[in-house]
Amino acid sequence: MDHLTVLSPAKLNLVLDVLGKRPDGFHELRTIFERISLADQITLTRNKSNKISVCCAHPHVPKGPGNSAFKAAMMLSRDFSISEGLDINIIKNIPVAAGLAGGSSNAAAVLSGLNRLWQIGLNNAQLVNYAARLGSDVAFFLYNTSYALGTGRGELIKPLDVKTKLWHVLVTPRVKIYTKEVFTRLKLKLTNKKDNVNILLPFLRKGDLARLAGALSNDLEPAILSLRPDFIHLKNKLLDAGATGVCFSGSGPSVFACVQSQQHAQSLRAKFDRRYTQIFVVSTL
Ligand code: C5P
Repeated sequence: MDHLTVLSPAKLNLVLDVLGKRPDGFHELRTIFERISLADQITLTRNKSNKISVCCAHPHVPKGPGNSAFKAAMMLSRDFSISEGLDINIIKNIPVAAGLAGGSSNAAAVLSGLNRLWQIGLNNAQLVNYAARLGSDVAFFLYNTSYALGTGRGELIKPLDVKTKLWHVLVTPRVKIYTKEVFTRLKLKLTNKKDNVNILLPFLRKGDLARLAGALSNDLEPAILSLRPDFIHLKNKLLDAGATGVCFSGSGPSVFACVQSQQHAQSLRAKFDRRYTQIFVVSTL
């Protein structure tokens, strides 16, 4: 096998509870991840040079050591003394630095793809260890599951046996927001903390869309809005257009709504101005 093409999907956070700040500077989280149909495509091609290179037409994707897919390949290449080279071609559909974990998903796709292409023979637990070194959101994508509970930094994953398929309209302003900046602005309120995961989970399991919509939550929202107060308009516009559950994903600025059907999502999509935002109709994957 000289090349391999894999899909690298995005995620949403249906709930994101921040429980506190840890001694290592990260924040302790409880989150529900949902894998969605918006995806990049990654082709890994072996070559005879001894270089790893990244090719991607998107102007905001780093092509060198700043790229998480590159980092993942370098780690495996070093640790397993791989002497050949590799071309990583990324067709980027997931907006960059948008709260959708596109870069993290690319890193996970490269870890599992190279494990096959280079016949390294790592098991999933070993891949998950590499994932945790690459970023907090990488591990989720190594599990073949639509939904998972994420704890710790977000890297401790428990797949959830939930069959519900959701439809969303996803709105991403054409502005990047960096996760670190959002966490830096976070003001933790540690009293009266609700367990939003366990509030939402029964509604998700039952596919009770009305209650699910009311239970979506993201503790990072005030920090996102302190950086960009105008992004509240994205939520309001979706609500005004008739969406029920509207929430930021991850550290934003992407906002999503849970809707009844693909048709409903498409009708909402038509109301947004594409000059300032990218709009996607997506479903659970
Ligand atoms: O792990 P990742 O590279 O995605 O994290 C980016 C930044 O977001 C970290 O450097 C940290 O500042 C912040 N972060 C955090 N707590 C988490 C995840 C990320 O403070 N659980």
